Amino acid sequence: MNISVIGLGKLGLCTAACFASKGHRVIGVDTNQHVLDQLRLKQCPIDEPGLEEFLGKSWGNLTVTDNACEAISNSEITLIIVPTPSRSDGKFANKYIENVLESLAPALKKKDSFHVIDVVSTIMPGSCDSRFKPLLERISGKPCGVDFGLVYNPEFIALGSVIKDFLNPDMVLIGASDKRSGDMAKELYLSTCESSPVIKVMSLINAEITKLSLNCFVTMKISFANELASICEKVPGADIDAITDALGSDTRISSKYLKGGLGFGGPCFPRDNQAFQAFARESGIEPRLGPQVVAINNCVVDRLFDIISKNTNPGDKIALLGLSYKSGTYIIEESQSIMLAKSLIDSGFVVSVHDPKAMSAAKDVLGDNAVYFDDPYECIKDAAGIILLTNWQDYEALDWKLAGTLAKDRALLLDSWRVFKNINFEEFRYLGLGIKLNFWGSRNKNYDL
Ligand SMILES: NC(=O)c1ccc[n+]([C@@H]2O[C@H](COP(=O)([O-])OP(=O)(O)OC[C@H]3O[C@@H](n4cnc5c(N)ncnc54)[C@H](O)[C@@H]3O)[C@@H](O)[C@H]2O)c1
Repeated sequence: MNISVIGLGKLGLCTAACFASKGHRVIGVDTNQHVLDQLRLKQCPIDEPGLEEFLGKSWGNLTVTDNACEAISNSEITLIIVPTPSRSDGKFANKYIENVLESLAPALKKKDSFHVIDVVSTIMPGSCDSRFKPLLERISGKPCGVDFGLVYNPEFIALGSVIKDFLNPDMVLIGASDKRSGDMAKELYLSTCESSPVIKVMSLINAEITKLSLNCFVTMKISFANELASICEKVPGADIDAITDALGSDTRISSKYLKGGLGFGGPCFPRDNQAFQAFARESGIEPRLGPQVVAINNCVVDRLFDIISKNTNPGDKIALLGLSYKSGTYIIEESQSIMLAKSLIDSGFVVSVHDPKAMSAAKDVLGDNAVYFDDPYECIKDAAGIILLTNWQDYEALDWKLAGTLAKDRALLLDSWRVFKNINFEEFRYLGLGIKLNFWGSRNKNYDL
């Protein structure tokens, strides 16, 4: 198929590379000249696992331009993957999408053949029918569903595994203005996915609501696991992992995103949650679940802070290992590690930090208030508290005997994901979020949370 992708950012470029690597001819459009220059030099402008390799397989099928009209004229379907920043009321702003639609609509007007406009960006429910469709019909002078089609087709991907998630979805969600457009989007995904996803084709409004609901449901699972973890911390013998492992084996629940640990962060979950609440209010319903999910999420940082302040003193060096909102990415947006760093700094701790990918992003936010180490052992040296935050595998592989000799005697080792819960460190006072293992069959030594 001839495809155009408008917006070659973290999601758009991966999408373009996946389609092109599967043999589709892709025209990529972006207004960022630096991105276009790098792609013209066959260089990968974005740090995302697998992207460079997929671009390597794509160059023969991928061209780039800053001209949206050119892309419309030379393709059958156009995916729009531009930013939809959150507004102060929690809703997503449509201005980037509407700019794109205004720039491409004249080409739609001139086109003789049917063309599908496929919005992938995360949007507020109602946007397609109330904003995008009228705008396109007004400028093109053509009726939607007859001369062109409108599709809403969000991706359920996570940064750090965008390519894998894109090629192996559980479900492809397609909201369509008409059957022909829905069928075209379906054909495109069936020809590209490596899994055998369920394909759900529905109305535009239902797809818009489904996208937001799905992400909010996932955040609800995360907060459920974290509330359970906070209870387990108070109950002798309780171990969150034993419980969530059993819960997750029930197919009504499933184990994904059901692990006590840090809360959710990043560029999608927190803002999708806020947008869902704004959507509920706009619809005349006061949301009750969403605010609680957020409140529980915010408590995780408070719990970490309390444990650290009980076990160390202001002025102590606290080593934070892992700053990105999850492993596999440099993104620190809404990262709980960064929130914890700020709280500790404000309370007079000396905060030393390490992350395999997120150091430069963290420097932009924490500035001179933290001490940055490229070497995790240097970060740990003389620390009174070592806090394992983002669950990068790199930290599991550290020589913890050596770390114990470098840190202060009997330093606190606080393990957000309980990676080391079965190891009896002599060197550290070990605590894990979600466990109070001083009961039978558990660790010999432990300390009060
Ligand atoms: N990144 C994710 O994990 C993810 C996941 C699901 C959904 N989304 C959604 O996808 C959308 C894009 O997210 P992203 O993370 O890829 O954003 P991004 O900021 O990484 O990339 C957006 C790209 O769009 C380009 N752009 C802006 N205006 C343009 C225009 N008028 N014409 C052409 N290009 C233009 C920018 O230059 C940039 O390269 C957002 O709505 C986001 O919520 C992202």
